[in-house]
Amino acid sequence: MEVCTRGERETRALGEAIGALAAPGDVIVLAGDLGAGKTVVAKGIAAGLGVTEPVVSPTFTIVREYEGRCPVRHLDVYRLDSLQELMEIGLDELIDDRGVTLVEWGDAVGALLPADRLEVRLEVLPPEEADDETRVVTICGLGPRWLARSAALAAAVAPFGGR
Ligand SMILES: Nc1ncnc2c1ncn2[C@@H]1O[C@H](COP(=O)(O)OP(=O)(O)OP(=O)(O)O)[C@@H](O)[C@H]1O
Ligand SMILES: [Mg+2]
Repeated sequence: MEVCTRGERETRALGEAIGALAAPGDVIVLAGDLGAGKTVVAKGIAAGLGVTEPVVSPTFTIVREYEGRCPVRHLDVYRLDSLQELMEIGLDELIDDRGVTLVEWGDAVGALLPADRLEVRLEVLPPEEADDETRVVTICGLGPRWLARSAALAAAVAPFGGR
C-alpha cells in the first residue's frame, strides 16, 4: 500500500492509525533516509498504542521502552557499527509476545528481524516532484500476523490518499 502525507502532523496521524491496529508481538520496521520521518511515525504508532509520555528519538540510547496498552520498545539501529552489537543489545529479548517493537533503520538489519513484520518506508520526493513536506509512505505487511489484518490496515490508511 502506498499513501502520501503532507506535513509532520499527517505522518504522525498515519502512525497513530497503524498503532491502533498493532498488537503485542508485532515488529514494525521503519525505513527511509535521514530525516524522512521515521521517528515521527514511531511517535504516532506509540500514541495509537496508548503511550501518553513523550516519545523521543532513541538515536543515542539505541532503545527506549514505553508503556501503553502493552510495552512499546523503540529502537534506532543507525549508530550500531555491526550486527554483533545488535546481538549484544539482545534484539531477541526486545522482540517477544508481550510488546510491540519499532525498529528505525530496520531494513539495515533485516536478516535479524522476524520474517513476520510490518514495513513502513518513507520517501522524500525530488524537489521537482513535490515540496519538502511531502512523504510517500509504503506500508507492507509481511507474514500471517499482518495478512490477518490486511483489510483493517488498508481501511485505516485509506484516508491518507495517494500521490
Ligand atoms: N510529511 C512529513 N512527514 C514527516 N516528517 C516531515 C514531513 N514533512 C516534513 N517533515 C519533517 O521531517 C523531519 C522528520 O524527522 P524524523 O526525526 O522523524 O526523521 P527520521 O527519519 O527519524 O530521521 P533519522 O534518520 O535522523 O532518525 C521533521 O523535522 C519533520 O518536521
Ligand atoms: Mg529518527
